[in-house]
Amino acid sequence: MTTVNLDSDYWNNRYIENNTGWDIGYANPIHIDYVLDNIEKSARILIPGAGNGYEVSKLWNYGYSNVFAIDLSLEAKERFLSQNPKFPADQYLIGDFFELNQKFDLILEQTFFCAIKRNLRSQYADKIHRMLNTNGKLFGVLFSIEFQGGPPFGGDTEEYNRLFHSKFSIVKLEKSYQSIRSRQDKELIIELMKK
Ligand SMILES: C[S@@+](CC[C@H](N)C(=O)[O-])C[C@H]1O[C@@H](n2cnc3c(N)ncnc32)[C@H](O)[C@@H]1O
Repeated sequence: MTTVNLDSDYWNNRYIENNTGWDIGYANPIHIDYVLDNIEKSARILIPGAGNGYEVSKLWNYGYSNVFAIDLSLEAKERFLSQNPKFPADQYLIGDFFELNQKFDLILEQTFFCAIKRNLRSQYADKIHRMLNTNGKLFGVLFSIEFQGGPPFGGDTEEYNRLFHSKFSIVKLEKSYQSIRSRQDKELIIELMKK
């Protein structure tokens, strides 16, 4: 079990030290294709733990003007804004996801769930449920394997079913065939609809 305090200093330093092995360097096409195919341009979209925010800028550039990011790391936000100077700075929120009180139509999951401690997982499910509007959805990828230590913290289908089934209709929870090479056979695609 990790004893590291996963607070804003921890995450901010990971960016300052360029110790960001999770960062794939571009917008994950799994998320972008899903949004382009399924989501209206006016939708309120949140990407929690957005980091360098590649999906955020990609969607904004596609005309999703109500796309928001939240992250604990100011360094990540500053890097994002330096790459995307025209993005409205107040749509990249700095703070704790668990304390955000806003509503969204869609929440995109990309290596945020695996970055929070396991004992926060049921709070994550509750929080996502509270933040979604009626018929709102969570879509994204989750790891299907376990890791030594963490973050990242892994999991499996059984655990995710247990965690989400009472509050969400599980539209999809299945092996991803579109993962980047280093995550092939290690990811599940998840799509949940708020009950
Ligand atoms: C593993 S990184 C993933 C970053 C990004 N999603 C990506 O794929 O490159 C996890 C991110 O979550 C942020 N984070 C961790 N706990 C958080 C919390 N409670 N609220 C908001 N952001 C958080 C970290 O600062 C970090 O940027």
